[in-house]
Amino acid sequence: MNTLIICGSRYGATRVIAGWIAERLGYECLIVDVKEAPDLHEFDLIIIGSGIYEERPMPEILNYIDKHIKILEEKKKVIFGVCLDTSGFFVRGKIHGGWEYVRPVIEKFQDPPLHAGVLHGEINPSKLTTDDEKRLMIFYNKMLKRNYAAIPFRTKMNKEEVWEFAERILSKLGGKFY
Ligand SMILES: Cc1cc2nc3c(=O)[nH]c(=O)nc-3n(C[C@H](O)[C@H](O)[C@H](O)COP(=O)(O)O)c2cc1C
Repeated sequence: MNTLIICGSRYGATRVIAGWIAERLGYECLIVDVKEAPDLHEFDLIIIGSGIYEERPMPEILNYIDKHIKILEEKKKVIFGVCLDTSGFFVRGKIHGGWEYVRPVIEKFQDPPLHAGVLHGEINPSKLTTDDEKRLMIFYNKMLKRNYAAIPFRTKMNKEEVWEFAERILSKLGGKFY
């Protein structure tokens, strides 16, 4: 199956996860950044992954889908988001996080993706831009009321979780429901 994995990734986690997905699928996949995505016609399966920033997929991914919606509707698709909070939370009567992060991508399609998921990423302070560092300090200290002097390194990246995700893709490609 000719497979393309398109990544929206600011710090590389989505790209690493794309590699793990390809590894478990067990055949060669082309992995590209959303800015370099080639002509989609030659692919049978298109997997689209995005890092999640401030509760949203990356605008580059949303714009890409809008631009190529016609051809994407004709293809088998898989969607995944990469973030720290994959389970979500409930505040003041509203659901945030988890699956909510990928809903804007899933809902772009009339023909629903074959599979979708939310996978764990990481925050590596040594890679962050000054702007992102400031945003995260506000998030941790003002919103979560922590008292951090610096952003902590947190990785929740989990190859086992990613392989399970890829196994579900294989199972659904084989006509199974789950
Ligand atoms: C400025 C900023 C905002 C973020 N916002 C969220 C968020 O709203 N929810 C979440 O679960 N993770 C959030 N994250 C964590 C990212 O989703 C995580 O770093 C992910 O691995 C990024 O993937 P990428 O390296 O492929 O871009 C945020 C990270 C940064 C730096």
